[in-house]
Amino acid sequence: MSNNYKKTTIGEHKLQPESLMMGYGYDPKLSEGSIKCPNFQTSTFVFESAEQGKHFFDVASGRIQLKEGEKAGLVYSRFNNPTIEIAENRIAIWDNAEDCLVTGSGMSAISTTLLALSKPGDVIVYSEPIYGGTDTLINGMLKQMNIQAVGFISSEGINGFEEALNKASKMGNVSVVMIETPDNPTNNLVDLEQCKQLIDNIAEKQEIRPVLAVDNTMLGPIWQQPLDHGADLCIYSLTKYVGGHSDLIGGSCSGNKALIAKIRKIRNCIGTTMDSHTAWLILRSLETLKIRMQASTTGAKEVVDFLNAHEQVTRIDYPGLLTKDNPQYQVYKKQCKGAGSTFSFEIKGGEAAAFKVLNKLKLVKLAVSLGGTESLAQHPAAMTHSGVPKERRQLIGVTDGLIRISVGIEDPADIIADLAQAMN
Ligand SMILES: Cc1ncc(COP(=O)(O)O)c(C=O)c1O
Repeated sequence: MSNNYKKTTIGEHKLQPESLMMGYGYDPKLSEGSIKCPNFQTSTFVFESAEQGKHFFDVASGRIQLKEGEKAGLVYSRFNNPTIEIAENRIAIWDNAEDCLVTGSGMSAISTTLLALSKPGDVIVYSEPIYGGTDTLINGMLKQMNIQAVGFISSEGINGFEEALNKASKMGNVSVVMIETPDNPTNNLVDLEQCKQLIDNIAEKQEIRPVLAVDNTMLGPIWQQPLDHGADLCIYSLTKYVGGHSDLIGGSCSGNKALIAKIRKIRNCIGTTMDSHTAWLILRSLETLKIRMQASTTGAKEVVDFLNAHEQVTRIDYPGLLTKDNPQYQVYKKQCKGAGSTFSFEIKGGEAAAFKVLNKLKLVKLAVSLGGTESLAQHPAAMTHSGVPKERRQLIGVTDGLIRISVGIEDPADIIADLAQAMN
């Protein structure tokens, strides 16, 4: 039984990720038969001998490579911990990745990745709008470290990306292309396969190949798997859909073994590791990830239909509403399996009207964040994107009448009733 814990098939039958979430990577024999993986709430691990400690350190620090079939020994929870490693193994399954690392927040996954892959003189290309924290990191701290950045507006499509990439490559080595698709809060999509082709062309002209990193927080991993569409890294704020209960902060980064090893080395050095209790909560959340995302997406569709028919609503940014005449429609069909449950809608009357609606909501909570079991609404221009200059906000569609909603798993009729009374 014990050697079955990493099996992904039964005979010829391939097991689906949602089935593997119940046990993959965990051997009950090592934990008194406990059905659930315990929270290994410990900072350090006891070595059997000094020689073993030396060997474990050599492996953890990358001085020696593991032999085929050999497992890295446990040293210290900033480097490794069973609960954390099992969470990493299971996220890698969802992402169709060779390896994964988890971090203390979505921002620490993004910052650790960018720090591990860029050096002074390099240039990062990024999509706009992008999460405010990522924007601040790229245009603030990293610029102070002489890591430059060139942005492109996601709604401008692949031409905008090509222009930005060419401009960046004239400034220095392009180290990372950081893309958020769909973007937040306007849900524009970026065609990852086309980006990869352009990156391949640039790679021939510089010393390093730019790494295509995708922040997949909005749709992944149920509705979008960027690694299957040419991305090198798939990053999450696990705080959102993956954690899914608005009770934790966490992040992750999945990709091939070599890239993840490079980023893990920096994570272990600067200490952006996740704690074991959060990893344990992530294991709990991964078991229900698919049904939660399915339920919230079904609910969101009903809420979108209600808003679409409402006379106060002037615009809805929801990938499920894309029509064939829109160039983004093809990207949606190729890249996404579903539209998710976080979207924005614009109402008549600007900020005053939007605030009135937000203040009248009873069931839907007025809070930032997204992807939890409960529905949340917020005002991007005054809250999550308030750091973006007003002219830039207008350009990217973050207008004063825009409200972002993250639909949870309540009865959709109740959410609609709440919105109806607030918009009346
Ligand atoms: C798309 C996206 N990426 C990254 C982050 C940062 O994640 P965290 O708050 O877990 O650091 C957020 C947070 O809102 C987000 O929405």
